[in-house]
Amino acid sequence: MAVNLPSSSLLLPLISLFLIFITITGQHFTIPESTIEEIQQAFAENNLTSTQLVDFYINQIKTLNPLLHSIIEVNPDARDQAKNADEEKRENQGRRNLGDLHGIPVLLKDTIGTRDKLNTSAGSYALVGSVVARDANVVEKLRKAGAVIMGKASLSEWYKFRSLSRVPNGWCARAGQGVNPYLATGDPCGSSSGSAISVAANMVAVSLGSETHSSIICPSDHNSVVGLKPTVGLTSRAGVIPVAPSLDTIGPVARTVSDAVRVLDVIVGFDPRDYEATQRAAKFIPAGGYKQFLNPNGLKGKRLGIVRNPFLKSLNESIFPIFEHHLNTLRERGAAVVDNLEIANISTISGHLLIS
Ligand SMILES: *[C@@H]1O[C@H](CO)[C@@H](O)[C@H](O)[C@H]1NC(C)=O
Ligand SMILES: *[C@@H]1O[C@H](CO)[C@@H](O)[C@H](O)[C@H]1NC(C)=O
Ligand SMILES: *[C@@H]1O[C@H](CO)[C@@H](O)[C@H](O)[C@H]1NC(C)=O
Ligand SMILES: *[C@@H]1O[C@H](CO)[C@@H](O)[C@H](O)[C@H]1NC(C)=O
Repeated sequence: MAVNLPSSSLLLPLISLFLIFITITGQHFTIPESTIEEIQQAFAENNLTSTQLVDFYINQIKTLNPLLHSIIEVNPDARDQAKNADEEKRENQGRRNLGDLHGIPVLLKDTIGTRDKLNTSAGSYALVGSVVARDANVVEKLRKAGAVIMGKASLSEWYKFRSLSRVPNGWCARAGQGVNPYLATGDPCGSSSGSAISVAANMVAVSLGSETHSSIICPSDHNSVVGLKPTVGLTSRAGVIPVAPSLDTIGPVARTVSDAVRVLDVIVGFDPRDYEATQRAAKFIPAGGYKQFLNPNGLKGKRLGIVRNPFLKSLNESIFPIFEHHLNTLRERGAAVVDNLEIANISTISGHLLIS
């Protein structure tokens, strides 16, 4: 039987309509997938307010969170904070640089303490209603930078220490099972699952996660976003529910490297409440921050080792062409890709992989 295609006389106008649509939307600012830099430009050109941005995300959360379960609480004060940021911008009239995060909504993993209407509960009912002594240091820094605290992200409850083997990644009692927006049947990984899912699904601009052992990088990888694990002590852990002070670190989860770096610049630094670690690390923070090192040609001349064994063995072969495509992109951007790198006794190392 012949397949019924629209006649070419109908198809061509349809295609050109589609192209016109692409051209028009391509010129104008749209919120989904926009970077902090683009949002700040839209603020500066009076094409967008922080309040409009927060309203967009609240609407997005209402639509998607019942499916993705990545947010536990929305901050009842988010809209007021956005209005304040807009007011401050109007009064400032571009005289002073208000900074990259001014008016930008940031979501926090539910282990990062906030002294406000939000609970800090590690995803568990056990801590609901408890009141923390003060904001975590990273939250203090975000507020000072004019960021909007959007709410609390879900996670693997208690950093997955409720049960390492029998509770799935991304599950917590308060939000349910977090869902990978790209592959609903796939693993969102954890424990900063909600931070990664929410950013991937455009439910917020950027978020904070925390890592003890791959808890930022693994969910970022699985949900196709950028996770940055700062060296221990670069960011203060004060006011964040701990796992192991020798390993814990707080870092950004974002859609682009440049967004992640803009968040990093705001949250790093010495904090007397996390004295030893932050004092040791603070002297390595470059003057002027990390943003100056962003370089679109940064891959040129870099050597990247690809360890296929054992990491690719467990994967469905249908994704291999996609993997090869990404390796080619890295090559095209100037990286020297050293493929099939073997690490001696890798099974000894990978046998001890746990997520927390
Ligand atoms: C902002 O609005 C102006 C006028 O409507 C338009 O020309 C410009 O392209 C817009 N900028 C962005 C980033 O959308
Ligand atoms: C925090 O928990 C309390 C219950 O003790 C609840 O009434 C309140 O709505 C929660 N806060 C938010 C922002 O959901
Ligand atoms: C591999 O992926 C394909 C396409 O998504 C799917 O049909 C197939 O069932 C998967 N195989 C396994 C073993 O999961
Ligand atoms: C690998 O393991 C073997 C046997 O335990 C050991 O003799 C060898 O030194 C190890 N190699 C490396 C590079 O650690």
